[in-house]
Amino acid sequence: MSATAKKTAPMPSDILARKGGTPLVCLTAYTTPFAQLTDPHCDIILVGDSVGMVHHGLPSTIGVTMDMMVMHGQAVARGLKQAMMVVDMPFGSYEESPEQALRNAARIMRETGAGAVKLEGGVTMAPTIEFLTNRSIPVMAHIGLTPQAINTLGGYKVQGRGEDRERIMADAEAVAKAGAFSVVLEKVPASLADEITAAIPIPTIGIGASAGCDGQILVIDDMLGLFTAFKPKFAKRYATLGDDADKAIADYADEVRSRAFPAAEHVFGDKAPEPKK
Ligand code: KIV
Repeated sequence: MSATAKKTAPMPSDILARKGGTPLVCLTAYTTPFAQLTDPHCDIILVGDSVGMVHHGLPSTIGVTMDMMVMHGQAVARGLKQAMMVVDMPFGSYEESPEQALRNAARIMRETGAGAVKLEGGVTMAPTIEFLTNRSIPVMAHIGLTPQAINTLGGYKVQGRGEDRERIMADAEAVAKAGAFSVVLEKVPASLADEITAAIPIPTIGIGASAGCDGQILVIDDMLGLFTAFKPKFAKRYATLGDDADKAIADYADEVRSRAFPAAEHVFGDKAPEPKK
């Protein structure tokens, strides 16, 4: 590539071609500054519906709306130069029918410029995935623990242990057959994630799955230590920015109360400075 050539975002076919290769690096982002920070290091940026919990104080992802996903998708798009942007379809925006899913996925792609959408569900959602991919909407699937289904799954439990293993394997095979270009495997036993990765032709992206997956994803606020309400076992903290922010804000409050801030260098004199010659 020449020094001036602009790197373009990977297409679904590029992601598919990474099956079995160097692992795909994926993170979530919800705002322009974090899109700018993550873009140079990642293959895929997911505008996850986790935004509802980490930025809107919701107790789960169930209250997230289409308008929220579109707004955060637009903000992230402004900060990306080279990574593929995938936007989550929120709860209630695709389950009713393939037609409803198409209407909302098309809105997400039209209004945010996303390269693909992600939706939760395996065998049940396979016809919808096929309907979308046949109509020019690339789909990343999401199986295992599907957070939009916590009320029927009974909480944020590991999925696919014991007799449940076959259900998750069937989900993986169904979404791959339906045309998804990749699949997120969330909170499944490592041995099952490895078995699925070997069995299906599309990249698996693990979160609480296995290092043997074709890629990994984490929620950015978890890995930076910004979201501290709870810490899932799989969410390795690479920084403690929440603690740093707490200290900075406490220092500011002390300095305001003691009048140490603003100091001379932060205030303005009566006269404009001489123009530089
Ligand atoms: O919403 C989200 O951030 C996700 C990831 C955890 C995969 O779906």
